[in-house]
Amino acid sequence: MSESIPQRFSDLASLRRSVADWRRAGERVVLVPTMGALHEGHLALVAEGRRIGRRVVASIFVNPTQFGPNEDFSRYPRDLAADLALLGRAGADAAWTPAVETMYPPGFSTRIDVAGLTEGLCGPFRPGHFSGVATVVTKLLNQVGPDTALFGEKDFQQLRVIQQAVADLDLPVEIQGVPTVREADGLAMSSRNRYLSPEERALAPRLHAVLTEIVATTRSGTLVAAAIAEGRAALEAAGFQVQYLAVCDARTLAPVERVDGPARVLVAAFLGRTRLIDNVAV
Ligand code: PAF
Repeated sequence: MSESIPQRFSDLASLRRSVADWRRAGERVVLVPTMGALHEGHLALVAEGRRIGRRVVASIFVNPTQFGPNEDFSRYPRDLAADLALLGRAGADAAWTPAVETMYPPGFSTRIDVAGLTEGLCGPFRPGHFSGVATVVTKLLNQVGPDTALFGEKDFQQLRVIQQAVADLDLPVEIQGVPTVREADGLAMSSRNRYLSPEERALAPRLHAVLTEIVATTRSGTLVAAAIAEGRAALEAAGFQVQYLAVCDARTLAPVERVDGPARVLVAAFLGRTRLIDNVAV
């Protein structure tokens, strides 16, 4: 495995030349899109990329269009040198680090909106977010031209939205989800966990615990509505401000009343100023 810093590209033409060379040589190219502030969850994506492909490109771009006006764009953690070192250790071949003006030059005016899947869960709480994600990911896929792109299941709604956009737009790439990486106490890894105070960090694993309780109780026959009411009360008693807690069809993301097919329990809640999301399969 390569231990060196990956080759960094900020110029689209040179990135495309390298990817074209790899593909001409018959090498399978995998893209891992990120916003930097890398953690074990991202490194698991790179590891999966190395398992299924020959070349792994990680993009690092804090995408302004997916943040709302009152969200954390300006304070989102940025540490390119640390990210490049981590990518090198994980064995990524290249880092695509476009500038904001490269992604959104003056006059940029196209937006990708995925209907349906974006109407519930995070959608109403983050207006414009999924449009920003779908647009930037479509651009990243067109820029890099990978065979496969990997996304963490922690952002399950994002994963489904991207799968839908790629199918609808006939983009020639396979989108693959990778299971969430968790801390030993169950907290899903997230770049935003570093915002948590020590007290909040101690409470945060409750989120995953409540999700797994809901999986267990709905599997043993408790009605979804009752399990959710109990879970929400437990989270609020622990100090979370819950935005949503829902059991949804894993494909359509429509809420379900009983579990009789592939489903997912999903949650978004604030702990102090930090918004945490998580989900598990039922
Ligand atoms: O999940 C993320 O880090 C971002 O939403 C993504 C997919 C890199 C698009 O900016």
